[in-house]
Formats: sequence, structure tokens, C-alpha cells
Amino acid sequence: MPFKAVEVREEQGSYRAAIIDHAEFSDLADGEVRIAVEYSSLNYKDALSAAGNKGVTRNYPHTPGIDAVGRVIASASADWAPGDQVIVTGYDLGMNTRGGLAEQIQVPADWLVALPDGLSPADAMMLGTAGLTAGLCVDKLQRQLGDLSGLRIAVTGASGGVGSIAVVLLKQLGAEVTAISGKAEQYAFLQSLGASHCAAPAMLAEFASKPMVKPQFDAALDTLGGEPLANLLKAISPDGAVACCGLAAGVALNSSVFPFILRGVCLLGVDSVEIPRERKAEIWQRFAGPWQLDSERSAALLSEVGLNEVPEQLARFLSVSVCGRIRVKL
Ligand SMILES: NC(=O)c1ccc[n+]([C@@H]2O[C@H](COP(=O)([O-])OP(=O)(O)OC[C@H]3O[C@@H](n4cnc5c(N)ncnc54)[C@H](OP(=O)(O)O)[C@@H]3O)[C@@H](O)[C@H]2O)c1
Repeated sequence: MPFKAVEVREEQGSYRAAIIDHAEFSDLADGEVRIAVEYSSLNYKDALSAAGNKGVTRNYPHTPGIDAVGRVIASASADWAPGDQVIVTGYDLGMNTRGGLAEQIQVPADWLVALPDGLSPADAMMLGTAGLTAGLCVDKLQRQLGDLSGLRIAVTGASGGVGSIAVVLLKQLGAEVTAISGKAEQYAFLQSLGASHCAAPAMLAEFASKPMVKPQFDAALDTLGGEPLANLLKAISPDGAVACCGLAAGVALNSSVFPFILRGVCLLGVDSVEIPRERKAEIWQRFAGPWQLDSERSAALLSEVGLNEVPEQLARFLSVSVCGRIRVKL
């Protein structure tokens, strides 16, 4: 049966997203599963794919969408049966495989994670790849530092998808969170999510000329990379740690070795895309249980759109720095 999907087409060198109602898949290959998507979400990578970024998507027409949750409707794998509720994030979904901004996806069976009891499909896509990434960062900090309660933890890019969920989760775990954000007008919002303090990125830029500064944070969750990360490392306490997952401010890291050899600071890399699905399942399980996010706070960081609004939202994503998360209801 044909279904609705976002389709990005190349027209004389420019890229345009539109809704089509005649998308179809060919028959399932061995080991593939077809899923009726209930919710997806919008991520920066989807906007890059929709804008023709060849580092994300090589061939068009293409349907973006790196996140999906829904029900299995056909399966050529012994591991999954029609009716199973599943989450798919990352791997090649929405990059060079047709993605979750559609009523159906068809993917290899080993990309699927069972939706855990206690997590609704809607909550899974309030989190999406951004939430999974924030969760993996927090997990790495816990493995390194133990209990995070009482620790002073900075979150950079705090108003973004990863950052806003990290603020809520870290607050729930008892940390004293400093939200570092370029959006001064969003400080009240960040405080409502649980930030004890808010600061502008200029605070980190002040450290640029110094080899090290007085420790200000026990740990940090960095979504920016580049210069902000290099400066942040100078302000971490002895034996502290920084979980690094993003590149919003740049890919280069020009740091001295001082934070590492004078204070024993650990830099912890985080990938949420290609890791084994068992690892993804562990984090989803935690969001369904001990990490279940406060409903008022998660509602505050969330907006929801329908599929028809996605083309406009994708275009907006690259020009306006979005606040929180955008869930897509199929
Ligand atoms: N490692 C992984 O597997 C993985 C997975 C998901 C995402 N990521 C990466 O993590 C980062 C955050 O993802 P996201 O989904 O949270 O993105 P997002 O929603 O677009 O948020 C990024 C935030 O960073 C800040 N920012 C944006 N551009 C900036 C710039 N040029 N200089 C300084 N700050 C800037 C803004 O926050 P403020 O205005 O509050 O400062 C923005 O809201 C991205 O780089 C993304 O590619 C990595």
C-alpha cells in the first residue's frame, strides 16, 4: 500500500522537501523488517540531509529521519513479529536508507530495539537520538565519576536537543547544573528545566588566553566541540571528566595536555549512532525506569508537529537555532 513520506528532491542544484503520498517499498529482503512509524523527531542531521549535505546523504530523491518508533507490520527475521513495538535510531536510518519522516520504514532487523515497558512511543521520540545521546553521556560520566549527585556539572549548547534533555536528567540525578547557552532569553526556560545557574559561552571564551583556570566544574557534558570544549577542559576539577558528543561550534580541538596531566581530567567520547543495539537498549531501559523524565519538564522542552509541517520545519532548523526537541506525529 502506498504511504505518505517526506521526500527531498534535487532541482537544478537546490534541494526541496515536500510530502508525497505514493511512497512504496519493494518486497522485504531476508533479515529486513517493515515498521509502521508512529512518531519520529527532528534532528540537526535531518536538516543537513534535507539541505543536500552529501556527507549525510549521497543520493536523492531521499526521505530523511534518523529516528522512528512504531509497530512491526511485516518481518523477514525470526527476531521480530508483526505487532512488536520498536525503536530505531541511528545506523544508516535517514542517511542513505529511507528514514523515519514517513509512515513506514524498512530496515535490517538488527537495527531494532524493543520499546521497553514503561516508555510510551511518544516519550521515546520526545527523547529520540538527542535523548539517547544525552543518556549515553550521563552514563559515561557515571562510569567515570560514580554518583553524580552534588557534583557541579556544566552543559554546553544547553538549549538544544541533547543539552536540554541533559539538563533535566542531570538535575534529576542530583547534580548542580550550569547551563551554558548563547540564548540569554532562554535562561528562565533552562532554569525551569532544572539548571541552577546559567552562563553565556563568553564565560568560556574568557579562558582562551590562559593555560588553565581555577576549577569551576566537577564534570561537563559538551555538545559544542571546538574552542568552547578546549576552554571548558581548563576549568574542570582534579579527576573530573567531560563527556564530548558534539561539534556545533567546530571539529578542531586545540587543547594543551595540562588538564590531563596536571589535573587528571578525562575526556570521554560518546557515539550514539553506530554502537551495538544492546548498548542502546540499556539506555532506553533506563529512561523507562530510574531515568524517567519529569513530565512537566519534558513537556516544557517539547513541541510537536505533523508530517505536513516537516518540510517547513526542516528549512527553519538550519537558519534558526531551535530550542528543545521537535517530535513528529505520523
Ligand atoms: N555523538 C553522537 O552520536 C551525536 C548524536 C546526536 C547529536 N550529536 C551532535 O551533538 C550536537 C548537539 O546536537 P543537538 O541535537 O542538541 O543539536 P541542536 O538541537 O541543534 O542544538 C545545538 C545547540 O548548540 C548551540 N549552538 C548551535 N550552533 C552553535 C555555534 N555555531 N556555536 C556555539 N553554539 C552553537 C545552541 O545552543 P545554545 O544556543 O543554548 O548555546 C544549539 O541549540 C550536534 O553537534 C550534533 O551533531 C552527536
